[in-house]
Amino acid sequence: MEKINNSDKFNNPMHQIDDWEENLIERYPDPAADTKEKEEFRNYVDSERVETVREFYRINHTYQTYDFVCEKEKEFLKFDRKEMSLWEAVDFLNTLVDDSDPDIDLDQFQHLLQTSEAIRADGHPDWFVLTGFLHDIGKVLCLFGEPQWAVVGDTFPVGCKFSDKIVYPEFFAANPDSTNEKYNTKYGVYTPNCGLDNVKMSWGHDEYLYQIMKDYLPEPALYMIRYHSFYSQHRENAYTHLMTEKDIEMFEWVKKFNPYDLYTKAPIKPDSKALRPYYEELVAKYLPAKLKF
Ligand SMILES: [Fe+2]
Ligand SMILES: [Fe+2]
Repeated sequence: MEKINNSDKFNNPMHQIDDWEENLIERYPDPAADTKEKEEFRNYVDSERVETVREFYRINHTYQTYDFVCEKEKEFLKFDRKEMSLWEAVDFLNTLVDDSDPDIDLDQFQHLLQTSEAIRADGHPDWFVLTGFLHDIGKVLCLFGEPQWAVVGDTFPVGCKFSDKIVYPEFFAANPDSTNEKYNTKYGVYTPNCGLDNVKMSWGHDEYLYQIMKDYLPEPALYMIRYHSFYSQHRENAYTHLMTEKDIEMFEWVKKFNPYDLYTKAPIKPDSKALRPYYEELVAKYLPAKLKF
């Protein structure tokens, strides 16, 4: 299988896309971790990664405009790139390699399995387990040549004022929407409590996968997929004024999902061979044989 190495420094400042997720754990440490674990994690924070993640956010906040999201929707929601089964998509995603040590880092498949296995161990319904297993498959966008800043990172609404609760809010000064009066007010192009379904989010793997899955999974699963990177809401409550009662209710699921995404990255690799039959059955229960990407 061909390995793709995204090395273009401007579009892809991070060594690997998951450096963003490491940064998330630094921002939102595991409340269940003991002091020793927290200490170990702090010692592990490397300053080079802090810099590359910062640069990543600088570009992300500069270029994720309302128009950019519209363009990406037009481009990718035609789903004319590739037809794959979910398993082919997982294998495809796993061709994404980084320039750090592959022996230390977990690959994408392992992250998915660790997330879903932790959900399964807690006795949640099977669609919740499946959601954990597939939640990051939208990252195949990287393999279609998309830059890191249009695939990962915290997502946030575009078309209205960027909240100070979004990580590195100062970088929005360079985003042209910040000085466009159509977009830079509290509600911008939206109305109070118009519902998140009517709100455009910055473009990335969350919205993309949601659009692929929307006919197949129960509603809470779809919320988890679509908003799992919307930290300024599910952690900071910065955009409740755009949400309906139902959105607020459904965000309880998004919040329930988040610790499984962030705090299950154990160094022990799950036994993917032994687990495969269970997941094959689960995937077949909910998804068609082929999906359009
Ligand atoms: Fe994700
Ligand atoms: Fe994830």
